[in-house]
Amino acid sequence: MPTEPLFRPISGATESFIDVEFDGRRLAVLGQRSVAAALLAAGVSRFRSTPVSGAPRAPYCMMGVCFECLLEIDGVANRQACLVPVQPGMKIRSQEGARSWEAIHTASGGSNENTTEDSHAA
Ligand code: FES
Repeated sequence: MPTEPLFRPISGATESFIDVEFDGRRLAVLGQRSVAAALLAAGVSRFRSTPVSGAPRAPYCMMGVCFECLLEIDGVANRQACLVPVQPGMKIRSQEGARSWEAIHTASGGSNENTTEDSHAA
């Protein structure tokens, strides 16, 4: 298993580190780039697992096409990490397999009751 990050910053570029949380651990990453680029440069090589086989996945296209970079960012699931600028203090979690309906519904701010019907009740 590779331990060296495949992505490295361009030498001579102005670099500043910021702290984020990844899977519950504090991680210092380079700022002024996407979440995907920052995590890859920090050595993170596994972003999620597939719902069917559980195979590990990591960013591939880095331009919003492949959806291999999906992460939970600040409580919002299925964010394309290659399109989200990294910010200090972000809470980032990898996504494991298929998500439960409760997790999706809770993350969207809903409740377990059908509020649409309730709002139309007299
Ligand atoms: S890496 Fe392909 S959509 Fe993000």
